[in-house]
Amino acid sequence: MNTQSLKFLLAAGAAVCAGIVPATAANGIKVEHLGVNNTLVRVNPDSVRWLIMPVQESCDDARVNVLADGKLERTIFVRLSKNHTDYTVPLDLTPYRGKKVVLDIVTPQSRSSVREAANDACWQDMALSDSYSTANREKYRPAFHHTPLYGWMNDPNGMVYKDGVWTLCYQWNPYGSKWQNMTWGRSTSKDLVNWEHHGPAIVPDGLGTIFSGSCAIDRENSAGFGKDAIVAMYTSAATSQTQSLAHSTDGGNTFHKYAGNPVITLDSEFRDPNMFWYAPAKEWVLVLAHALEHEMLVYTSKDMKNWTLQSRFGKGLGAQDGVWECPDLFELPAGKGSKWVMLVNLNPGGPFGGSATQYFVGDFDGKTFTPDRDKNGNVPTKWMDYGKDHYATVSFSDTPDGRRTVLGWMSNWQYANDVPTQQYRSANTLPRDLSLFRGKDGSWYLASAPSPEVDALRASTPAPVNSSLSTTPVVYTLPADNDGICEIDATITAAKGPVTMTLSNDKGEKTLITYDPAKATVSVDRTASGVTDFSRDFSAVTTAPLPAKVKALSLRIFVDRSSIEVFANDGQAVLTNLVFPSAPYSTLSVSADPKATLKALSVYPLKPTVK
Ligand code: FRU
Repeated sequence: MNTQSLKFLLAAGAAVCAGIVPATAANGIKVEHLGVNNTLVRVNPDSVRWLIMPVQESCDDARVNVLADGKLERTIFVRLSKNHTDYTVPLDLTPYRGKKVVLDIVTPQSRSSVREAANDACWQDMALSDSYSTANREKYRPAFHHTPLYGWMNDPNGMVYKDGVWTLCYQWNPYGSKWQNMTWGRSTSKDLVNWEHHGPAIVPDGLGTIFSGSCAIDRENSAGFGKDAIVAMYTSAATSQTQSLAHSTDGGNTFHKYAGNPVITLDSEFRDPNMFWYAPAKEWVLVLAHALEHEMLVYTSKDMKNWTLQSRFGKGLGAQDGVWECPDLFELPAGKGSKWVMLVNLNPGGPFGGSATQYFVGDFDGKTFTPDRDKNGNVPTKWMDYGKDHYATVSFSDTPDGRRTVLGWMSNWQYANDVPTQQYRSANTLPRDLSLFRGKDGSWYLASAPSPEVDALRASTPAPVNSSLSTTPVVYTLPADNDGICEIDATITAAKGPVTMTLSNDKGEKTLITYDPAKATVSVDRTASGVTDFSRDFSAVTTAPLPAKVKALSLRIFVDRSSIEVFANDGQAVLTNLVFPSAPYSTLSVSADPKATLKALSVYPLKPTVK
């Protein structure tokens, strides 16, 4: 796909699908039905950029073999519409200029006759166009979180900081808003809050689709791809999962796959390589999720191409349900010394069902990760975020100033494919900076605080309000601009009983955030938050323990169009949850029993970064 032209097109943003022409031979599309479930579509790619493909989400995938001059270029899976078209997705024709393009399409279920097959809506609605509209059509598209412009997104991938630019690749389906056709999409940012979209970075090939992985800067040119090349390692997913390399010497604009791929193979499911330079041994360390075995594999290499398995971590430790995925391993300051943290994403088996991120604190000697144990010799299960919508979280590599900055996928495999959006599905969490703190039990815990760059979202600084609280709620009006997106900061002191902050709209929909000092917990109740009926698993109350002593509880609450992120005491407890209110929340009310004090309540209106 021509990334440059897509970049231009996406930047142009609001282009309307002007000039769309229906599927007729005269207009460059010729449809021939060969049987009850097989159709050939011939298109002329010479004078037009996109083939616009119609999607009906409730249909099963059609297999679309893209042939250029008779050669199979790629196979994609698209829910081509049968009865009606929900939305369209674009196939870039520019790589095939000068060739004869034929799509050999196998539709999922055969019709009773060719005549019936010919009636499918997709053949009428297929079109050629020089433009594809990415203008937002969604009321739930976040205003200040990264989302793809269109199509499905899951895990963040290949996150790296280089020359002032934060690169965020992601698991992307460019051909529909449900999981499929895994491709690395790519966005970049200079400030971690405004993102520029660049389209596909690494696309499927004969070794498989492109599953999750990481990027690192090869400062020593150890792999021979060039000094300071950005090197990506990802999982090639076909019949088996193998690990492959690609590199970029232009800051991530173009990735070149390594001809010797795959570089690591195994006889069982393993994926999501995460690699980093381990300076003391002057070599690369790689952590891979041995998914079904519930363990992480640690490899080392001098050249990124030849890897040696050094150790295995995790069997029998922590949460062991589901599959282990998306690892990360890094060092953080801890008191006067440092500790290592192993992130283990798992699905299902999270504390409130479905996907979640657990972590282990311990030591690492370049080959083996050894987790800390409590006084009884046990390795406790610890969660990074106690909401339902925080998964696949890993960190940026090569971050400046010793920072460890992470982003997660703000959804849950239980219902990610069913959330009430269509043009796109899923967003990332806000960026968070990690640190370690000691809990009451003397062990180390991970704090995830909003990255400092997030402060730049504030549109103005309101005067803070103080108030004593009682069972009669104190009521505040939320900023109405931009559908009420805002940051709510407050400190609660002298609380003996629960304090509840309620976000609500005039439809009676509400999300409750409750601090319970006796239990030392913060919880979020989204059971009446708005649209919840798209999945039995969505309605939930999630609760986070506060591991350290609490004198006063400080809260930072980020309200976007379809998410609420609650950070308590600088990220010592975090809850990330999606919400789909049918109208924006307009009111904040705070009540407490018995008396507590609300100090320095500030409600900041935020500037949208997604237009
Ligand atoms: C996690 C995950 C990864 C895999 C990717 C596929 O959400 O299942 O293990 O690489 O998604 O999209």
